[in-house]
Amino acid sequence: MVAVSANSLPVFLQAGTPAFKQSLKLFYMPGFELWGDEERKELNDVLESGVLMRYGFDGARNGHWKALELEKAITETFGCKYAQLTSSGTSALTTALSALGVGYGDEVIMPTFTFVASFEAVISVGAIPVLADVDETLTLDPNAVRAAITPKTKCIMPVHMCGSMAWLDELKAICSEHQLVLLEDACQSIGGTYKGQHLGTIGDAGTFSFDYVKTITCGEGGVVMTNRQDVFTSSDGYTDHGHDHKGVDRGADLHPFIGYNYRISELHAAVGLAQIKKLDRILAINKANNKLLRSYLEQIPEISFRVVPDEAGDSCTFLSWFLPTEEMTQAVVTELKTQGIYGGNFYWFDNNWHYIRKWDHLKNATALNGISPVLRDALQKLSTQSFPASDGIMSRCISTLINLGWTEQQTREKGEKMQAAIKHALQKITVNV
Ligand SMILES: Cc1ncc(COP(=O)(O)O)c(C=O)c1O
Repeated sequence: MVAVSANSLPVFLQAGTPAFKQSLKLFYMPGFELWGDEERKELNDVLESGVLMRYGFDGARNGHWKALELEKAITETFGCKYAQLTSSGTSALTTALSALGVGYGDEVIMPTFTFVASFEAVISVGAIPVLADVDETLTLDPNAVRAAITPKTKCIMPVHMCGSMAWLDELKAICSEHQLVLLEDACQSIGGTYKGQHLGTIGDAGTFSFDYVKTITCGEGGVVMTNRQDVFTSSDGYTDHGHDHKGVDRGADLHPFIGYNYRISELHAAVGLAQIKKLDRILAINKANNKLLRSYLEQIPEISFRVVPDEAGDSCTFLSWFLPTEEMTQAVVTELKTQGIYGGNFYWFDNNWHYIRKWDHLKNATALNGISPVLRDALQKLSTQSFPASDGIMSRCISTLINLGWTEQQTREKGEKMQAAIKHALQKITVNV
């Protein structure tokens, strides 16, 4: 088991302190748990030169090109031909959609369980999010995708939620059959793989988020990965006002198309450069802690686990598990809360960010400005649509976040406490029936 010394952690991460207990409620795929001298060193390179922008100022930057270095490290680590850093995972999705030619009136099939950023990106390029059911992988059900295809469908966007993957072979086949593009939202699954290939590098394009609560972080940031040169060239220009980056200076660049500013800063890229070197260590800790915690939940016959299309490729940032009914799941959630050990567990069915049930702003098309009539009509249709298959899955699912800072003893204690609380809740239900 890979152990992290408790003393090497900041006070708020030291187990047992009130700050630690409080912070457990906030934790989320935290590369930031391994913050240290490496990040400070990379940041200092940038601070000393004072060149905070990724482009230009060649003479002043003391040879430091952190964004370029990180892009190279991403292509090498994840095995894709091209990587374009962006200011966030959301802007990476927006960039990828635009670079893939997805825009006004096109339909993008995406899952009912994701983060709001996925549909934000679709809407921001003028396209229409079409929601399709998830199955026990917690990602797109290929049959639901087939049923959602219309003549306007342009893109399938699986979201590899909570560290693990969609049925990529099946989705790729659907894309080939219908001439659709495949965009992987891999923002939550950095380091996960499918049949030996990294998630995010398998479709026409894929994205990671490097926000503060992802497997590795830049503070804020994201990346578009692709093996298509056209998608990369478009992403490169799109994230920097359409500059073609062929001029002798920025003023001499041409603008073959309209772009925006989705650039990452050198400071953020510097943090990412230190973090990417820790990825193997982070994944090893995730896997060990996940396996150990699972061994406690496995002893409860009522519990089943998320279906993972390629078990070896699970990045193990979460352990997601099911109970047989919604009633049992609600009872377990209540019991964990009552015992003060719910922190780090997520009942997505009730979560405002992650599941369609609570996305009223989307269903009501509530925006600050005018929305195209085509999009408004499509969103209003969503408000009358129901997703019984997704409800049947998500109402029974709890995901437990895996932390890097747990020692083996703490993981065992967590497992024992959760096991006892779950058994207690299930027993109470049986008695009451
Ligand atoms: C599935 C998914 N997609 C996209 C994003 C957006 O990433 P960012 O916060 O970097 O904009 C997130 C962030 O949580 C996410 O979980």
